[in-house]
Amino acid sequence: MDQSIIMKEKKMYYKGAPKNELTPITSSWMHELFNDQDVLRGLIERYGSPVNIHHLPSFNENSKNYKELFESYGLKYRIFYARKANKSKGLVKQAFASGIGVDTASYKELEQSLSLGGNAENLVLTAAIKTEAQIKLAIENGVPIILDNEDECILTQSIAKEIGIIANVGFRISGFEVDGEKLYSRFGFDVDEVVDFIGSYVGEQKTFDFLKVTGLHFHLDGYSTHQRSVSLIASITIASTLKDKGHELSFIDIGGGILMNYLEKENEWVSFNENLKKAVVENNNNNITFNNNGLGFRLEDGELRGKLNTYPFFNTVNKNSFLKEVLDFIDEESGLSVASLLLKNDIEIRIEPGRSLLDQVGITVAKVSHRKKDAKGQWLVGLEMNMSQMMSSSADFLLDPFMLYSSEVEKEESVDVFFTGAYCLERDVLLKRKITLPRLPAIGEYVAFVNTAGYMMHFFETEAHLFELSTNLIFTGSNEKLSFFQFIDDNKIVLNS
Ligand SMILES: Cc1ncc(COP(=O)(O)O)c(C=O)c1O
Repeated sequence: MDQSIIMKEKKMYYKGAPKNELTPITSSWMHELFNDQDVLRGLIERYGSPVNIHHLPSFNENSKNYKELFESYGLKYRIFYARKANKSKGLVKQAFASGIGVDTASYKELEQSLSLGGNAENLVLTAAIKTEAQIKLAIENGVPIILDNEDECILTQSIAKEIGIIANVGFRISGFEVDGEKLYSRFGFDVDEVVDFIGSYVGEQKTFDFLKVTGLHFHLDGYSTHQRSVSLIASITIASTLKDKGHELSFIDIGGGILMNYLEKENEWVSFNENLKKAVVENNNNNITFNNNGLGFRLEDGELRGKLNTYPFFNTVNKNSFLKEVLDFIDEESGLSVASLLLKNDIEIRIEPGRSLLDQVGITVAKVSHRKKDAKGQWLVGLEMNMSQMMSSSADFLLDPFMLYSSEVEKEESVDVFFTGAYCLERDVLLKRKITLPRLPAIGEYVAFVNTAGYMMHFFETEAHLFELSTNLIFTGSNEKLSFFQFIDDNKIVLNS
């Protein structure tokens, strides 16, 4: 009999199991890597800790799913990957290879994307602050510029006139009225003024005669599909009014903010929320979070106040079903769905997903540096990484991590730990939640944080204390046995010129 069949399979890695588990959705490529620690060890020895690993087939799959959705409606569409969510060049190349475009938000993002294969058709510039250099580069390459205010119109007009090329622009709109309330945004032209502004000042023989308006744009804060549908309907009306005035508008870009789902189980999410509130009210001795951090909840005069200040990690409506809700919404006035209105008005819909295109694309793996007990008797496990290398824009990243042991756990002990980082700040605690592990990690073992590609790896990464920035590895995936050589250092991806 084959020896491997009778041998009990060794279990070398475990999901952390806090009292309130939040089991992340994971992919088989992640488990293959966790099972092959020789490859991971080789990577961390070569590139240092932490490493960020990006799986290109998952990115391609996400792009394909969005494309299929729009095609099922027969809509004209373009998808631009918002690369602000992750700085790796490998993903930009993959976006072009997958037949989608890239949304750029700075000079360097635009310049790099151009030299990685970007062009007038597959790029857009949406930077919040636009410099002369950015605008010039975009105009020279025919890349649409999404204008936010009158000053940007003036600057773009003067640069376009100077170099003698008409600038292809879209107008960003905000202030849509939804259910009697005006949605505030610091960005964009007011929805009530944009038609007059474009009508009066933009186009041949007008103040801005070097600007050609080809589309409209909005990006809403928050994750409401209803607000997106209502804003899209208002934008379609604006586009059709402008078309009547002779502007050749062809697209409406609805930005990003398409929800994704990180967690496997709704009941875990619900009970975590309930127990966190209870912990804040009862001040229950760091049972759930470090220093009883309420993650947005707080106790004031004995009353529970605030709300969970994190990404909504569990979502039944996400990605394609989220977009479907936006497109299937029925406009009361015409009785038509948003999708039908787009078709009827011959308007191309554009989206700029960042986070959701990176779903299941990345993991961050760090090495255990030390273990210590603090004055409260809690285990702190120091990792060779710092808080900026896996940092959420909100109160915490609520996914259970994976502990990769270098030997089998013979006897499960159930140890509660907090993972701590290398910055000299008391608050450099990588996950605020207390994590229960089957054994205290040993020095040199690894911890893996999953689904970190969207915003978690790079958005806040700093070089304080002169720590090196983490290395980004691009993994093309393979049907063969895993090998060190299937992982490409993103720094080695060459730009064309
Ligand atoms: C203009 C614009 N487009 C796209 C995005 C990407 O959003 P998300 O990553 O939530 O999909 C953002 C995010 O801030 C944005 O500001």
